[in-house]
Amino acid sequence: MSSIKDILYVKFSVPDLTKQDQFLQDFGFETRSSENLLMARGTDTSQYVYLAELGEPAFIGIGFEASSLADLEALAKRENAALEEVQLPGEGCKIALEDPDGNIVEVAFGIDPAAKHEVVPRPAFNAGTKRLRLGERVKLSPPKNLVKRLGHCVLNVVDFRDSERWYKDRFGLITSDEIYIESEENVLGAFLRCDRGKDYVDHHTLFLVGAGESGFNHAAFELEDWDSLMIGHDRLKQGEYEHRWGVGKHILGSQVFDYWRDPHGFSLEHFTDGDLFNVDSGSHVAPLDDLLNVLWGPQGHP
Ligand SMILES: [Fe+2]
Repeated sequence: MSSIKDILYVKFSVPDLTKQDQFLQDFGFETRSSENLLMARGTDTSQYVYLAELGEPAFIGIGFEASSLADLEALAKRENAALEEVQLPGEGCKIALEDPDGNIVEVAFGIDPAAKHEVVPRPAFNAGTKRLRLGERVKLSPPKNLVKRLGHCVLNVVDFRDSERWYKDRFGLITSDEIYIESEENVLGAFLRCDRGKDYVDHHTLFLVGAGESGFNHAAFELEDWDSLMIGHDRLKQGEYEHRWGVGKHILGSQVFDYWRDPHGFSLEHFTDGDLFNVDSGSHVAPLDDLLNVLWGPQGHP
């Protein structure tokens, strides 16, 4: 089993918190800000899924939730890392580590859940061969805050095997799909998921891309459904933000995706309808084409 339950947040520094705040609201977050910290949450119970400090534009790191206090304490001991109190809403405690590329990786436990914002699910979907909505109209009441939760983060790494070892050793992640270029020995990277036994988790929580240099690739936030995703798409289009890729459906992970660039150049993704795997779903290999191509939608990863 993994020592982490899920990804909790991504953290950045940006020079214009006001501009970033507006983007985050248009993206579908509920935000809170102080003089030098911006926090954003979704409708699920995480106090925050996105953090930005005042500073030069930079990706700082990732926060994971430990599976238990015992797991966090064991990690702290193994890493000789100090357990510190979290000075943010919900409190809790955390350790801070550094991955092979210098990204800060925080692992937290005991953060009090925030009140969940109720989301009214849309009526059933009428597929051609499966008509489930009978005698009922589609009424949509999308929340202003379309984002539900953080699903995954993608990092470009200097050496894929080094980074993979680092994350797997500490957190017990499982490979869902390893991506190869031309031959299976020539590995580019891998989609990694949490091991929560028979419980189903996202197809990937972390995707490491052996790019030869380190960098933030993107973070992806889950929305309730397709309607929410398209509503979000139109809101961001009206805001005249830079669109990167989508709307489309990935082959690996099956998510319907829509990628946007924030005002400071960082890519954030809206997704819905992703695959859920458990310990029995196995580990697979896939060619690069399966990463770049789509089930439908525009071809070509930006
Ligand atoms: Fe993604």
